[in-house]
Amino acid sequence: MSEALANLLNETRQFPPPAELAANANVTAGAYDEAAGDRLAFWERQADRLAWAQKWDQVLDWSNAPFAKWFVGGQLNVAYNCLDRHVEAGRGDKVAIHWEGEPGDTRTLTYADLHELTCRAANALTDLGVVAGDRVAIYLPMIPEAAVAMLACARIGATHSVVFGGFSADALTNRIQDASAKVVITADGGYRRGKPSALKPTVDEAVANCPTIEHVLVVRRTGEDVAWSAKDHWWHETVESASAEHAAQPFDAEHPLFILYTSGTTARPKGILHTTGGYLTQAAYTAHAVFDLKPESDVYWCTADIGWVTGHSYIVYGPLANGATQVMYEGTPDTPHKGRFWEIVDKYRVTILYTAPTLIRTMMKWGEDIPAGFDMSSLRLLGSVGEPINPEAWMWYRQHVGRGELPIVDTWWQTETGAIMISPLPGVTETKPGSAMTPLPGVVADVVDDQGRSVPNGGGGYLVLREPWPSMLRTVWGDDNRFLETYWSRFGAGAGNTGGDQWIYFAGDGAKKDDDGHIWLLGRVDDVMLVSGHNISTTEVESALVSHPSVAEAAVVGATDPTTGQAIVAFAIPRGTADISGEAGEQLIAELRNHVAKTLGPIAKPRQIMLVPELPKTRSGKIMRRLLRDVAENRSLGDVTTLQDSSVMELISSGMQGGK
Ligand code: WT7
Repeated sequence: MSEALANLLNETRQFPPPAELAANANVTAGAYDEAAGDRLAFWERQADRLAWAQKWDQVLDWSNAPFAKWFVGGQLNVAYNCLDRHVEAGRGDKVAIHWEGEPGDTRTLTYADLHELTCRAANALTDLGVVAGDRVAIYLPMIPEAAVAMLACARIGATHSVVFGGFSADALTNRIQDASAKVVITADGGYRRGKPSALKPTVDEAVANCPTIEHVLVVRRTGEDVAWSAKDHWWHETVESASAEHAAQPFDAEHPLFILYTSGTTARPKGILHTTGGYLTQAAYTAHAVFDLKPESDVYWCTADIGWVTGHSYIVYGPLANGATQVMYEGTPDTPHKGRFWEIVDKYRVTILYTAPTLIRTMMKWGEDIPAGFDMSSLRLLGSVGEPINPEAWMWYRQHVGRGELPIVDTWWQTETGAIMISPLPGVTETKPGSAMTPLPGVVADVVDDQGRSVPNGGGGYLVLREPWPSMLRTVWGDDNRFLETYWSRFGAGAGNTGGDQWIYFAGDGAKKDDDGHIWLLGRVDDVMLVSGHNISTTEVESALVSHPSVAEAAVVGATDPTTGQAIVAFAIPRGTADISGEAGEQLIAELRNHVAKTLGPIAKPRQIMLVPELPKTRSGKIMRRLLRDVAENRSLGDVTTLQDSSVMELISSGMQGGK
């Protein structure tokens, strides 16, 4: 793979951190050496950021690898760490959450408020018979109760399983059944795209097939009528009348904190299990280090949904463990207008913004006039997560959101890693547009070839993690074998006689090291194309297309081709200003093919480019290349149930323009 990749990507722009940020950064360059010297001692110092009821005897027990135990013998309560200790330290009046509902209603919750609500919810769950070790499903919109529900579970040692509110009854049913959940916490609905969007009917449908569910706790958000059964309880009757007194019991460092199912675009979803001490340690440390979070002065905003791991680690646990003030937004970015995000930044004087490439590209498509209409001078740091960010999207983000001067942290991690693993440190790293740059202190990542050998700088291959980390997944819920097979059997000790004696975690992402050894993520390995014997990453061709001024977004797939094995087929969304009618469209296509060839080399020239109005995405914003491959190979479409917007494939087929 290394050969073909070596001549791809020739990004040379580099941006040092702003001097003032560097001078006051939470974490400085010394952290890398500190962690390299004694990794376990480093993580032990990070665990000391938390309040432990009982200190650990051993930092890491790796004797039953790859089943890890971190902070063995330690005990703590996650909710105590996120709430009580801030209140006890006299910071109860500090705002924890500035909540903005989609219709424009707002709520301000201080740490004392959040603590009180969480105590009441913990008592209410206990009254419903939930005990430590039970599983509770959470299916809520982005309202403060979502955070409260998670924290209340953590407080009583119940393992939560948050299911994204956009998922269907089937998806909810499967997840409840897989974890044998006892209670579901939901709402009548939430607001999406300017109108109420019901949740309760989906829960009713799921619960009918889930005999383990004993109770359903329902938050009233939209006030719409809902069907009611003997298992149902209103949150405002149950939780708000429960006692506000609740003493948090400490739990073992390895007590199961949550299960979160990976989005699973192909196979049966996996219940990724995270535990208590190591998870909170790394979530708290990375929020402090990567976002340079200053609880006294920052207003932090992560635009993710709590249904994804980003919402778990960087809305709930990381920021709250640090005592930060944050914004939480219920709705969509274009309701009631396309400037809603920037209006929120302006209104709450947001200083740190953490969002996804898919949103940045959407904003690019809408045009830079929109952010220009708001005062975003409060911003001091920008973050990105979820997919590789194309260099041009990165530049646009820096230019039009970051005033051409703010640092961007492109953070690579996964549901499985629990917390950020590869990212610039904002006060240290000279960033390159499109690169996640460097493993964080305490993280040992590498890029290896087919044989598991570390590739030299300039080479490409598979991203792996060579050492265990505190917030690593502990297993796949109920399926240790799947855990071993999916993550640990490709390289190293788990690969049997072809591996070494080290356990090596296979992340499933393609990556390359540039000449300076910095890491570039190239997308899921399933998305790498094989064209005339050359491995070409979909990400790189997409980035080349997006670097053309007429393209807002692009998706690339490998389609079966009689001569080249696979051929590159691209789908591109033109920018609002581009003329694509008739001849002009054909001309643009020809120009784009040449543009890619010029940028990446003739081997990467797409066989075919189609101009389309939209791209199919999962609900977490990832492009579903599988469906585009169906189009490219003239097949009928496969399973479209995880599509965010089911009409988009029709739109693509009918609005498609272009040919060979
Ligand atoms: C996959 C994990 C991590 C929270 C949200 C997604 C891709 C994630 C980046 C990044 C390139 C990235 C990878 C990874 N990914 N962040 N900064 N650069 N790729 O969690 O749903 O578990 O997805 O998202 O392919 O493996 P997830």
